[in-house]
Amino acid sequence: MKKSHVYVTTPIFYASGNPHAGHIYATALMNIICAHYGHRGCETRALTGMDEHGEKIEESAKSLGKKPQQLVDDLAEQWKQIFGKFEFSYDVFMRTTSEAHKKNVTEVLRRCHDNGDIYFGEHEGHYCVGCEAFLTSKEMDDHKKCLIHQRPTELRREGNYYFKVQKYLPKIIELIRQGKIVSQRRYINELVSMAESFEGDLSISRPKSRTSWGIELPFDKDHVAYVWFDALPNYVTGIGGVEAAEKSPFWKSAVHVIGRDILKFHGLFWPAMLLSLGLEVPELCVTGWLLSGGHKMSKSLGNVITPDDIFELGRDAFINSAFRLANPGEDVDLTHKSMIERYNADLANGVGNLASRTLTMIEKYFDGRLPSFERDAFTDEELEIAQIAAKLPNAVEVAFDQFKLADALQLVWELIARTDKYIASQKPWELAKANTSESLTRLGNVLAHSTAVLRTVGFTTAAFFPEKMRLLLKALGEGNTPMSKAFEAASDFYGIQVGFKLVTIPRLFQRMDVPSRKETPSEKNKVAQQTPEQKQVDTAKSSNTITIEDFGKVEICVATVLNAELVEGSTKLLRLKVSVGDLGLRQILSGIREWITPEELVNRKVLIVTNLAPRKMKFGISEGMLLSADSQSAEVKPVFVSDEMKEGSRLA
Ligand code: MSP
Repeated sequence: MKKSHVYVTTPIFYASGNPHAGHIYATALMNIICAHYGHRGCETRALTGMDEHGEKIEESAKSLGKKPQQLVDDLAEQWKQIFGKFEFSYDVFMRTTSEAHKKNVTEVLRRCHDNGDIYFGEHEGHYCVGCEAFLTSKEMDDHKKCLIHQRPTELRREGNYYFKVQKYLPKIIELIRQGKIVSQRRYINELVSMAESFEGDLSISRPKSRTSWGIELPFDKDHVAYVWFDALPNYVTGIGGVEAAEKSPFWKSAVHVIGRDILKFHGLFWPAMLLSLGLEVPELCVTGWLLSGGHKMSKSLGNVITPDDIFELGRDAFINSAFRLANPGEDVDLTHKSMIERYNADLANGVGNLASRTLTMIEKYFDGRLPSFERDAFTDEELEIAQIAAKLPNAVEVAFDQFKLADALQLVWELIARTDKYIASQKPWELAKANTSESLTRLGNVLAHSTAVLRTVGFTTAAFFPEKMRLLLKALGEGNTPMSKAFEAASDFYGIQVGFKLVTIPRLFQRMDVPSRKETPSEKNKVAQQTPEQKQVDTAKSSNTITIEDFGKVEICVATVLNAELVEGSTKLLRLKVSVGDLGLRQILSGIREWITPEELVNRKVLIVTNLAPRKMKFGISEGMLLSADSQSAEVKPVFVSDEMKEGSRLA
């Protein structure tokens, strides 16, 4: 879909602590979406910021012996610095304690009140300070603990102002069903069921006697706005307020990146407020959880990935894994090791290697000048590559329009793999050695095609890897092409700068060493609890002498099949996405298609050889082997294991 403007926002983050990987993920996603549309020629605006009011912040300031304002000022500076380190860009860093925002919330409250959508009432219920909300019975366990925050709720009876959510629910349900609030299928269903089961209205104020850390209601000086009623309008403040949003082309094409835990607020309450204000309802891009080693990050599990960890590893490695392994909306499982492995496969050995080989050969055989295409000598393989590459920009656009960033990256890395195979079959070094006019024409065509692929990849993935892809494009003579024309330029596959003298650049992505497998906390404990005898036996086991050791070299793990699909163009292969506990998510291409359907595999536990070197195949990379055996009916079947087996556990 052609858009002229796009406005992308992150949730505004609670000013109660430091950012973690989940926040970096959301902000990176906002940046990538924004940059992508910018590269398609849209005018873009990006917003991130801090949610600075409410009881939670007040509580947190108190525990640190600080005034709330001092706490939020300090944290806003820290977050900005960390975002700066990652080179995230944004047009607005929203702070809900800013004067502009207070003015806008006051206006929103006044308009909704004047519309008759706000009334006073009493409510008793279980309140979670973590959520800053009264919870429904589904949101608590049997002991009335919040399921998200795992903290006890408080039974509260309060006289508060209420916003008439019920009045707008039928319209909201209609919008949800039409896919106008969220287009990701699973969240449409989730949201419809939330909307249908939502009872009562939304309490939107807190008495000052409980907390004064908020924006005063314009129609009652004894109450402040409830933190969510204060926070949600920040997106409108970022456009200049309600009146400005009414006319702004940015508001009409707003996208809110949000975590799935805040779907109810953005998918029900916010649309209700917007309908009351007469403003359009933005689209949501809902993200799943960022997991580490198969688990939610938590200090007690010792699996928290901090911004420092990511920074040390490099923004590109994090982004490639976070947005390559799963489309936003699904959970993504990252470990330090899996991020390095993916980085090596896709970036260092993939695009990085293709770039360095191509540039070196052009330097060597063409004195560093980009060769021209000799169309009369094109081979079928070249026509095929050109066709795939020419379709890529549009395919990436389509994927982005549905927030399917992993699908977009998959297409790009498949093109790189296809081009690698082409170069291997053409053996340009032998063409150079043969040194005939025919072989030199072929050599020029091979390197021109390889350059054209790199140029396409550079333009289409610059939103993910801005620094490195711009460097690559500069090397290829595209340094002056405005990035707002990136997709336009990419759609002209043969449009390389023939004759351009290459700009020398350092290797794009250096390979990283893969650390030996990190012990999980439970493995560490196991070793600590061993008797000296057991430890001795273990030492004997690791001395490289007997065949059991050879067996030990093969790592076979229990995995869950998350997804299985037919591989287009292959009669034998199924593409599996499996989750292997600590080892993260893997793609496996398995030649088992004639024996089993994808449906029979999904959600089943299987055995995978996990330490086979990844294999580049025509249809992508296979990162392991699915173990199978002959069934009684002489068919090959995967070895299924009982559901009881722990995902990621190693066969021993
Ligand atoms: N202040 C509210 C948002 C108000 S927006 C008007 C808030 N803040 S938050 O700091 O708690 O969370 C911000 C975002 O981070 C949420 O979208 C949440 O889902 C996301 N994440 C927090 N932990 C996460 C992961 N482990 N993985 C992915 N994102 C998660 O909610």
